[in-house]
Amino acid sequence: MTVEMDKIVSLCKRRGIIFQNSEIYGGIGNTWDYGPIGVELKRNVKDAWWRSVVYERDDMEGLDAAILMNPTTWEASGHLKNFTDPLVDCKKCKHRFKLDDINGNRCPDCGGELTEERSFNLMFKTFVGPVEHDASVAYLRPETAQGIFVNFLNVQKMMRRKIPFGIAQIGKSFRNEITPGNFTFRTREFEQMEIEYFVKPGTDEESYKRWVEGRFNWYLDLGINKEHLRLREHESNELAHYAKSCVDVEYLFPMGWAELEGIANRGDFDLRQHSEHSGKDLCYFDEAAKEKYIPYVIEPSAGADRATLAFLIDAYREEKVKKEKRVVLAFKNCLAPIKVAVLPLLRNRPDIVETARSIAGDLRREFKAVYDDTASIGKLYRRQDEIGTPYCITVDVQSMDDHQATVRDRDSMQQVRIPIEGIKAYIKDCLAQEKLVELGNT
Ligand code: GAP
Repeated sequence: MTVEMDKIVSLCKRRGIIFQNSEIYGGIGNTWDYGPIGVELKRNVKDAWWRSVVYERDDMEGLDAAILMNPTTWEASGHLKNFTDPLVDCKKCKHRFKLDDINGNRCPDCGGELTEERSFNLMFKTFVGPVEHDASVAYLRPETAQGIFVNFLNVQKMMRRKIPFGIAQIGKSFRNEITPGNFTFRTREFEQMEIEYFVKPGTDEESYKRWVEGRFNWYLDLGINKEHLRLREHESNELAHYAKSCVDVEYLFPMGWAELEGIANRGDFDLRQHSEHSGKDLCYFDEAAKEKYIPYVIEPSAGADRATLAFLIDAYREEKVKKEKRVVLAFKNCLAPIKVAVLPLLRNRPDIVETARSIAGDLRREFKAVYDDTASIGKLYRRQDEIGTPYCITVDVQSMDDHQATVRDRDSMQQVRIPIEGIKAYIKDCLAQEKLVELGNT
């Protein structure tokens, strides 16, 4: 059993991780803002993904395509026709429901009679230019994938790529979800981390299996408990309109197992559709084999917000320390929003404050480090534990004589004294090794 969502929501507010959007006006349904700590966490999640799928591979390129696209894109991709939810309305209380969420034929809220089912397109519509008419309609993209497909030939030719290769992109997507909820799990504006991996038809199943395994292990490597992660194959009746097959990486969220990421075999659906609708030949020509074909596509599609939420939930610990509750976010170091906090034991001693500030300034050049003297040392430790800072450095009276400071480990709460001049190298070592490195003087 994982932690209840309410505890995560309240911790996120209390510690500047995630706030309700436009809160002073009463908010807007299911829209959230990442605060100073949350923005670091989410950036670290996206950086870890980018590092793993772009920098650490030699068969991938990055891309950053625009949110607005020529509307024919959405005709070709099938989203105008197929990206819909069947909906019913209650004739009495006027509440609206997804057909899938209803048991029976009465309104779940008031028992009223329901309307006939009708299709509701999830894409947000807008208008380009000053006049709102049919010819100026545009859509906020509901997935980042299409920006990759329409750039397939640009990237392949300009970067002189041979199949197989992939394109990765991180960016915002928008869906007018009918039943958003569960904090940042399902929102109308969210960020996706998507890969389109182009392969020769016939090699697609093998590549699909490799991506499923690789993406599952990425979450484990970043610290998700194996028991909270599983793979679930889609039944044929739940496959998206473009997919040949699809597996979800699921996480055990507080409300139950739910999708973190989908890995789909999209076949040649997208490139074929875009070829037909644009009149441009999007085939790949294999020089060596003198073969021309439309590549198949394997698509690992993850959500940056959902992944961030899963890492938050999985890192959450409550412990009893000297009969008091201690809340800790036990992130892997690479995900921790702040890597090190420097805390003076006495804030009214200028020499201690100056030394602590100077250590923080030096560390800041290498990683996210903060200086804090706004509370007692016990409270400062608790604050850093709650946002998952792996190391705290305390400068005390003795530091003024022996030029050493105390480094405290978040998880074990173990402390070591380290010479101030070597403290940056020491913290770097600890961050790399994910533990307090022993110097033999604990
Ligand atoms: N291009 C394929 C695609 O978009 P998807 O399963 O609809 O597939 C992929 O979305 C991922 O995007 C999901 O696994 C989830 O992590 C994230 N996602 C989708 N809809 C979301 C929403 N409304 N709120 C937050 N994340 C969402």
